[in-house]
Amino acid sequence: MKPTMPAELIRDGAQPILVYGAGGHGRVVLDAALRVPGLRVVGVVDDDPKRRGESILGVDVLGGASILSEPRFGACRVVVAIGDAAARAEAVARVEAVGLRFDAVIHPTAFVAREASIGDGAMILPMAVVHTGAEIGRHAIVNTGAIVEHDCWIGEFAHVSPGACLGGGVRVERAAHVGIGACVLPSLRVGAGAMVAAGAAVIADVPPGAVVGGVPARTLKGE
Ligand SMILES: CC(C)(COP(=O)(O)OP(=O)(O)OC[C@H]1O[C@@H](n2cnc3c(N)ncnc32)[C@H](O)[C@@H]1OP(=O)(O)O)[C@@H](O)C(=O)NCCC(=O)NCCS
Repeated sequence: MKPTMPAELIRDGAQPILVYGAGGHGRVVLDAALRVPGLRVVGVVDDDPKRRGESILGVDVLGGASILSEPRFGACRVVVAIGDAAARAEAVARVEAVGLRFDAVIHPTAFVAREASIGDGAMILPMAVVHTGAEIGRHAIVNTGAIVEHDCWIGEFAHVSPGACLGGGVRVERAAHVGIGACVLPSLRVGAGAMVAAGAAVIADVPPGAVVGGVPARTLKGE
């Protein structure tokens, strides 16, 4: 790709954006970002040197985090599209270190209620629902077809997996992960860093760091 100055990156009022992460989740987020009229995807960033020069959905992998400080990307915002929460947090820190800001990516088929709030760098994927009063934290993922009911609170770096369903007022704390197709009954709390197994039905609060699964959910690991 030829070098582009920041002023040239902003065309038609669209916000230039870099997608950080060329793995499976990264490609899903890239596909979403390409469909958002207000965004213009400038490139993909990935720290694996072998990926440099690849083209994904017609977008070039430009290089690793070291390119983020190049002046030509000064007007860009970033979405860190790495599925693993710890790796995502590390990448976010690298972006923050060079002073770039983040943008959320909301797939055009997602439903986001007028009184919901979406944090910077969050990813709301196809057919997801975020109902009224819900708050989605920075760099959190509401994955394909997930339902986040009214007044839920999703902490930063948390992940609500495809097809998972959270009843009203559920709290999913920092970096917790609700697995594919799991359900959490209304008003419960999933503690920081906890894991809810795929297909679980959570009927009681989940302690921080615990792994729970089954119907009804029982502890698989942790307290
Ligand atoms: C819960 C989970 C994290 C456990 O993974 P793991 O640490 O590799 O654990 P194992 O596969 O070794 O299983 C450990 C035990 O939990 C049980 N278990 C695993 N997954 C389970 C599930 N979804 N529901 C109920 N029990 C489950 C296993 O049968 C095993 O039981 P045992 O000790 O009696 O034999 C994983 O199975 C899971 O559900 N991950 C969700 C992934 C997901 O939704 N990803 C979203 C990507 S978009």
